Amino acid sequence: MFYNDKKVSIAVVRRLPRYYRYLGELLKNDVTRISSKELSERMGVTASQIRQDLNCFGGFGQQGYGYNVEYLYKEIGNILGLYNGYTTIIIGAGNLGRALANHSSFEKRGFRLIGIFDINRDLVGEEIRGIKIRHMDELEDFFKENRVDIGILSIPKEGVAEVSQRLVNLGIKGLWNFSYADLNLEGDVEIENVHLSDSLMTLSYKITQHKRW
Ligand code: NAI
Repeated sequence: MFYNDKKVSIAVVRRLPRYYRYLGELLKNDVTRISSKELSERMGVTASQIRQDLNCFGGFGQQGYGYNVEYLYKEIGNILGLYNGYTTIIIGAGNLGRALANHSSFEKRGFRLIGIFDINRDLVGEEIRGIKIRHMDELEDFFKENRVDIGILSIPKEGVAEVSQRLVNLGIKGLWNFSYADLNLEGDVEIENVHLSDSLMTLSYKITQHKRW
């Protein structure tokens, strides 16, 4: 991972959304300024971890002052690319695709859903949150008329290699992959795999190893 030309570990990048959420909460509660110590206590990470993480991107704190909450919130949003107006499309309008399409909070984070696609012709024309489901045959034309940045893959793993390569060939920048398939694609694309069951299994581990039970 790089930030400008500097190497940044993926672990640091994965902590940024959490900082962003916490700072957003602080802003809502009219907190304008916070020390790294206070922030660390609220978030349950060490103050030095926060300082180290933020130093990867330029610091943002002032000795003796702490952090300006609004400034840091906006800077982290900026680093995460949340103000770039990224557009998304969902491929697969089944249970998961619908749940994601109905989840309007992604829009609040700056990701605009502009299209939903499926191979099932029976679904074509149906609307989810005002967005029409289109057939996969319309994909190429849609790309001619729209800038599409992120593809959300909620289709069974069998079709995912072909569909995702097609999206990459059309110039998609990122794939948010919910299908349980590892993607090996030719071309320039960023991939984020999501496995809810990994999180569930982690919870299972915690319950299993819980000392008091
Ligand atoms: P579903 O069967 O309700 O929906 C799948 C939809 O994809 C259907 O509408 C189908 O017509 C469409 N589809 C199939 N092949 C396609 C293709 N090549 N192009 C476009 N559309 C296509 O399934 P559900 O429950 O929505 O799950 C979708 C996938 O997501 C499954 O593979 C499931 O295992 C996975 N999943 C992953 C989770 C995760 O945490 N990563 C959580 C839940 C489901």
